[in-house]
Amino acid sequence: MKHTTVIKGAATTDLRHDSATKHVTGAADYTDDIAEPVGTLHAYLGLSEVAHAEIENIDFSAVLAAPGVVGVLTADDIPGVNDVSPTGSNDDPVFATGKIEFWGQPLFAVVAESRDAARRAAELAEVSYKKLPHILDAVQAIEAGGPCVTAPLKLERGDVETAMAAAEHRIKGQMTAGGQDHMYLEGHIAFAMPGEDEDVTVYSSTQHPSEAQHMVAHVLGVASNAVTVNVRRMGGGFGGKESQMSLFCAVAALAAKKWNRAVKIRPDRDQDMIATGKRHDFVIDYDVAFDSDGRIQALDGSFAARCGFSADLSGPVTDRALFHADNAYFYPHVRLVSKPMKTNTVSNTAFRGFGGPHGVIAAERIMEEIAYHLGKDPLEVRKVNFYGGEGRDLTPYHQTVSDNILQRLVGELEDTSQYQARRAAVLEHNAKGGIIRKGIALTPVKFGISFTATWFNQAGALVHVYNDGSIALNHGGTEMGQGLNTKVAQVVADAFQVDFDRIKITQTTTEKVPNSSATAASSGSDLNGMAALNAVEQIKARLVTFAAETWKVDPSEVVFAPNEVHIGDTRLSFNAFIKQAYMARIQLSAAGFYKTPDIHWDRAKGKGRPFYYYAYGASVSEVSIDTLTGEYQVDRVDILHDVGRSLNPILDKGQVEGAFVQGMGWVTTEELWWDDEGCLRTHAPSTYKIPLASDLPREFNVNLADWSENRELTIKRSKAVGEPPFMLGISVFEALSMAVASIADYRECPRLDSPATPERVLMAIDRLQDGEG
Ligand code: MTE
Ligand code: HPA
Ligand code: MOS
Repeated sequence: MKHTTVIKGAATTDLRHDSATKHVTGAADYTDDIAEPVGTLHAYLGLSEVAHAEIENIDFSAVLAAPGVVGVLTADDIPGVNDVSPTGSNDDPVFATGKIEFWGQPLFAVVAESRDAARRAAELAEVSYKKLPHILDAVQAIEAGGPCVTAPLKLERGDVETAMAAAEHRIKGQMTAGGQDHMYLEGHIAFAMPGEDEDVTVYSSTQHPSEAQHMVAHVLGVASNAVTVNVRRMGGGFGGKESQMSLFCAVAALAAKKWNRAVKIRPDRDQDMIATGKRHDFVIDYDVAFDSDGRIQALDGSFAARCGFSADLSGPVTDRALFHADNAYFYPHVRLVSKPMKTNTVSNTAFRGFGGPHGVIAAERIMEEIAYHLGKDPLEVRKVNFYGGEGRDLTPYHQTVSDNILQRLVGELEDTSQYQARRAAVLEHNAKGGIIRKGIALTPVKFGISFTATWFNQAGALVHVYNDGSIALNHGGTEMGQGLNTKVAQVVADAFQVDFDRIKITQTTTEKVPNSSATAASSGSDLNGMAALNAVEQIKARLVTFAAETWKVDPSEVVFAPNEVHIGDTRLSFNAFIKQAYMARIQLSAAGFYKTPDIHWDRAKGKGRPFYYYAYGASVSEVSIDTLTGEYQVDRVDILHDVGRSLNPILDKGQVEGAFVQGMGWVTTEELWWDDEGCLRTHAPSTYKIPLASDLPREFNVNLADWSENRELTIKRSKAVGEPPFMLGISVFEALSMAVASIADYRECPRLDSPATPERVLMAIDRLQDGEG
């Protein structure tokens, strides 16, 4: 894409990430880089090795006799409540007591003089169990009539039964869509320093410092004001650090208070993967009625998820799956239900898209089913079902889609990617019947922006202007690589019309901004950008009043110009002006606040406006598969994505590229595999395959829809970007599906499950060759 560097005043929009150089030179500080005080202790978790059992006894004698061991922490050492559940469900113990609910559940922590000593000693505990029958996946759980971890959601509109009965065509099907490990470069970590009285300070790699603070207080049995949580940056979070780090923060804080020494806990990659939650996997059943144009008349869908042993964020995740089961399409009569099933597996959690990807992949499978049934190009079926047109803009949750740009966006991408000509070429190639088959698919995304828990849509910021004219910025959001700090600093620089490097971005800390929400739901810059702007506006208002009174001009004659302030005919440098304001005792600091307007959601009724607006995008993927081995490669990808008026096109483009590749990994090679005993066997990069640099599309054309702007009054009319492009990866899945379908002359939808690993592709080819569908 064109990288136009827009210069507005002194602020440049296309700035690179403020830590880019530090990231690549290794100078960026992460939690593990903080200098350890003398006497720092290290904790390591001891995990269960059974999926469901009663604990009979744990013998720690060998652990305590091991070199370097200072002691063991168990639930008995918890002065407050043994629970870190983020939604108050009280089902997420720090350490299991009595009952073990999954393989890999933390039972205790060893605290030792070195991490190595703690890690080795944790292996030495003798745990005796009485095994109980376990349930590992959502289907088993449903068959057993098992409980849900949280109340299911139902969305309904129209009269599904009548519309189904009247329909010309009807298809029922099922698909499974897998989970995903976050594979953040930096794993979980927490480092706690005891303070006086009840105080403790915790440094952690967390997307949600305020929640970590509240959880640590809850576990220690102290007030939140005794606990400070700090995070400078994360080496990736992707949702995996929205709730799951609370456990590590709690263990470090417990040990720090017990031994009155600094304590660090950092699991190795295997333990991180085994003991912490991932993306849910879903089994989706659909029953769809449609006419001979492929236009949907009614849809009945059920979304069953493997939630693991506790609620964690499974309620909002499975809700969001239903909110996205329409993706870009209008369903005249619809009923959708979630089934958040309890299983004896690690508690699944937030992951980029937050259930949305499962809704979208189901919608896209349904489009494919219809297209193969009618012998049409799936894109044609997609288009006839798009939102838009008389009476076709109401979602299953009764929110009106009023900002639809799908037709234009998809139309442009169809042209620029030369979709039609390339599809014709692919069909021609496959008609020759060789070993290598090709597929091409265009899939759209519409993603709802806002936390569906309405109260989370608030943010705070703190801006100080020092009397030398330098500016310190703090906000409640966290930096995980997405560039949030850069964007918020750009907002502040632009509002003051000063150079970007005058803004100092400081660590996120619960001491400066209280009660912050998780940096999640892609809303970081929407919320914190507005809160920071609000703080700047307060300071500017005081400065304008001061200038107007002092220089005896009208307030409209006070103008913030690049690095200067113009007051009538007087021109002062920003620094000189600030110095004068300080001398006149003007308050040069402000706390800003923002809450998203106009959103509301009634979960019991299944009605409301949960989302402030939608972000849109579309991608075209072309793939080649080897029909003898099932191996494949992605030949070309074209993306057109909507970020409204971009706050920073370079960062946004990076988010779109990264999200696409992560989404492609989810639908292709990333497979989580538990054995029959419930032990996760894919717990390291040796067996769990994320995309490599060599898996990138051979040709990768990524563009932002530069004509788009947010209809709502978001920060500079931008749109959130973090999660929506993840679902663009689904076009790779659909292209693979087309290549497989060519084996049986596209007569049937191959019904691949996700991830479409090379094995699954090969098995699907075999089934079609055997005429089994
Ligand atoms: N980008 C990077 N580099 N690292 C991350 O961990 N997390 C994603 C997305 N992009 C992530 C990322 C997720 S899950 C979300 S919700 C958003 O960033 C959060 O940040 P934002 O709200 O500031 O976009
Ligand atoms: N998205 C991401 N994280 C969340 C949400 C959401 O809608 N709700 C609670 N945590
Ligand atoms: Mo993102 S899954 O909302 O942290």
